[in-house]
Amino acid sequence: MGLSSSPLKGMRQCYPDELRLERFVTDRMLEAGRLYGFEEFEAPLLESMELYLAKSGSELAREQSYNFTDKGGREVVLRPELTPSLARMISAKGREMPRPIRWMSMPLCYRYERPQRGRVREFVQFNCDILGCEDLTADLEIMLVLRRIMRSLGATPGQFEIRFSSRRLASDVLSSLGSVGEAEMQLAFGLMDKRSKMPPADWEQLLCERVPDASAREALARFMDCGSVEDPWLGEVVGERSSLAEVRELERMIRDSGLDEARFDASIVRGLDYYTGVVFELMDTGSENRRAICGGGRYDDLAGIFGGERITGVGFGLGVLSLMLFLKTYDLVPGSGQSSHDRVDVFAAVMSGDERALATCVAESLRDVGLRVAMDIQGRSLSRQLGQANRMGARWTVIIGPEERSSGCVTLRDMRSGAQESLPIESLPERVSSGSA
Ligand code: HAM
Repeated sequence: MGLSSSPLKGMRQCYPDELRLERFVTDRMLEAGRLYGFEEFEAPLLESMELYLAKSGSELAREQSYNFTDKGGREVVLRPELTPSLARMISAKGREMPRPIRWMSMPLCYRYERPQRGRVREFVQFNCDILGCEDLTADLEIMLVLRRIMRSLGATPGQFEIRFSSRRLASDVLSSLGSVGEAEMQLAFGLMDKRSKMPPADWEQLLCERVPDASAREALARFMDCGSVEDPWLGEVVGERSSLAEVRELERMIRDSGLDEARFDASIVRGLDYYTGVVFELMDTGSENRRAICGGGRYDDLAGIFGGERITGVGFGLGVLSLMLFLKTYDLVPGSGQSSHDRVDVFAAVMSGDERALATCVAESLRDVGLRVAMDIQGRSLSRQLGQANRMGARWTVIIGPEERSSGCVTLRDMRSGAQESLPIESLPERVSSGSA
């Protein structure tokens, strides 16, 4: 039996077509981040297990991570997310950096999850975070970046939604009703987060196991069904507490800034332990992509474990694969004509081995002025070389044969019109550059 031709389950392997789409998407994300003044940073792929146990929660750290003991006996993890590394980096240098800090990154992450639509074991996740600003304007700005990315990819308002809520509010509601004590709050959030990810009957069963008290279950369900910050029940339960005022304020800011794609949804709590304030997810409004495309929120003190000063942050992680599935669902994948990534500008057709040296010099002179040039390396017939030039999307073909070699002129073929002209080799770079539009 031969070796399997497939990669390990859930590992990322991109053929050029897929990579082209991935790059198209990641370029748009980074461009959007730059528009809001974000700077790129990078963190290690391998981190210590402690980091995630302390911050992300044991489900992600233990059950969903790729971990092993290294040769020095340290328990290490292929990062399942970037936020704890970001917190460490900020706490080490935070004092020196002017606030607010706007950082973005495009890490490869690993999670030992059951592969399914939109969820694999090796994935690229765009991260954007603002640190050192307590004001809700930072939460709003983060959501605006997200909307900007969606717009730049051609998504229209009805196709996606940013659903937001607040952990502080959820915590106030659940504790006011006496249904969940402080100690069980993380467990309650975990349970709430699972509702949209499980078949309803399985979730009900889990709920009965974890929350034996029927009135507590009712309160939880009532809260999760709140779809408006003006729901009078919320006011009755939490009264004048600041958590409710805060989400109402955010709702007002969202409306005032025309972010119509965002709406309050109390069932959003998120699965990671470190969130403390506003939380949100970006969802496809259709039925094909049911898992969140993006998730984020505010964390009040992620850097505290490193012994540094308290620094708050808000940000999101946006799955590139989830977004690519979204684009495919809505037919938003750019055609090859729209993507200029792998196109060549010029194909250099070589008629025989005698012209190869000249053709190489011609191709190099074109590359010197920034043109993408592919040269024939197989010595095939001219018609086959023209076929290849077409397949590669070449705008021009330069034909170099014995006649050209003796005359010092080359034949330039416009691949759109089929028209050909003869011109001196020295004037080729300028002619092609000026006529490549
Ligand atoms: P998360 O909700 O765990 O948040 O992940 C965010 C996004 O990453 C998901 O919505 C999804 O698109 C993508 N993602 C997660 N797991 C997988 C997977 N197994 N396969 C493919 N894509 C996946 C975080 O990771 C937070 N650290 C985000 C954050 C940044 N919060 C504040 N700043």
